Amino acid sequence: MALEPTVDRISTTLETVFQRSYAVAAPDLRRLYENAKRDQWNVSRDIDWTAEVDLERGIFADELIDGHGTQTLNRLDPKTFQQLNVEFSSWRLSQLLHGEEGAMLACAQLVDMVPGNDAKFFVATQVVDEARHAEVLSRYLLEKCGGMIYPMNGNVKMIFDYILGHGKWFVKTVGLQLLAETFAVSLFRMLMETAKDPLLREICRRILADESRHMGFSVLSLPDEIRGLNSADMRELEDFVREALVLLLSGQFPREAYERVGMNAADIDTVYHARKEIARGSDYAYFRKLFRREMHSTVVTNMKKVGLLNDRTTAFMRDMGIDTNLASAA
Ligand SMILES: [Fe+2]
Ligand SMILES: [Fe+2]
Repeated sequence: MALEPTVDRISTTLETVFQRSYAVAAPDLRRLYENAKRDQWNVSRDIDWTAEVDLERGIFADELIDGHGTQTLNRLDPKTFQQLNVEFSSWRLSQLLHGEEGAMLACAQLVDMVPGNDAKFFVATQVVDEARHAEVLSRYLLEKCGGMIYPMNGNVKMIFDYILGHGKWFVKTVGLQLLAETFAVSLFRMLMETAKDPLLREICRRILADESRHMGFSVLSLPDEIRGLNSADMRELEDFVREALVLLLSGQFPREAYERVGMNAADIDTVYHARKEIARGSDYAYFRKLFRREMHSTVVTNMKKVGLLNDRTTAFMRDMGIDTNLASAA
């Protein structure tokens, strides 16, 4: 596999708001900040790094591997299939890891950009949270899964290039805390419930406890801002939501993982196409269906809460196959 660059430089212009009003102005954000301080955890101390990960058993549930149940994968000898499980899991976890790193960078920008001090205090804690998530996932991959960290997938890169390069804080917050984190949370929850490796399930449980605060930030900070947007800004934000949802929902295919276990291009293509068929109906897609349903309902619910569910966004979400009636009671 060709060596991929491991550094990107993204130019951005941002406005630092050095505000000096220290009285509590947003008690709900202060409460979130208090929760963040109370619930800190330590990757070195709170994760049992002495636990053995049984790579011969596999990491993710086999059913989550694209092409599971197809002739092409059934033909693999058991040892190759087990290697594929490890590579496939490492590929997906690598994308989550790059997302955590990107989230840390975006939150560091948000500390400067958000207008109020209560919001600044909170996003300062999120910088540490995301550093911890990048720390725990990278340690898991490097120390427990054979050390392979796969390059960042095109979709993940596009969404973070946009989030990190954009000059408005509310666009970053919609991109990160409202959309990308909803996607990540649905994935972590599925892994927490289904992964074969107990250490990974525990890591996911720990990460999820932090992520609920991060989504909470978007729901608390965005409604006033979005209500005050002029129509041009609102349209730009809606366009961004559409683009980001397309990137998040179109899925990622871990081609490099199949290549690494020695599968040929024709077989990989067969898996790639089978994946789309499988997603449409059969039993193998059970986890995926749960994941989609949860992800869709959370996105719709949060968009409603922040004031982004309107005729235009409802129309394009329906076109993407998102059931916009899924919003739970806000
Ligand atoms: Fe995170
Ligand atoms: Fe997060």
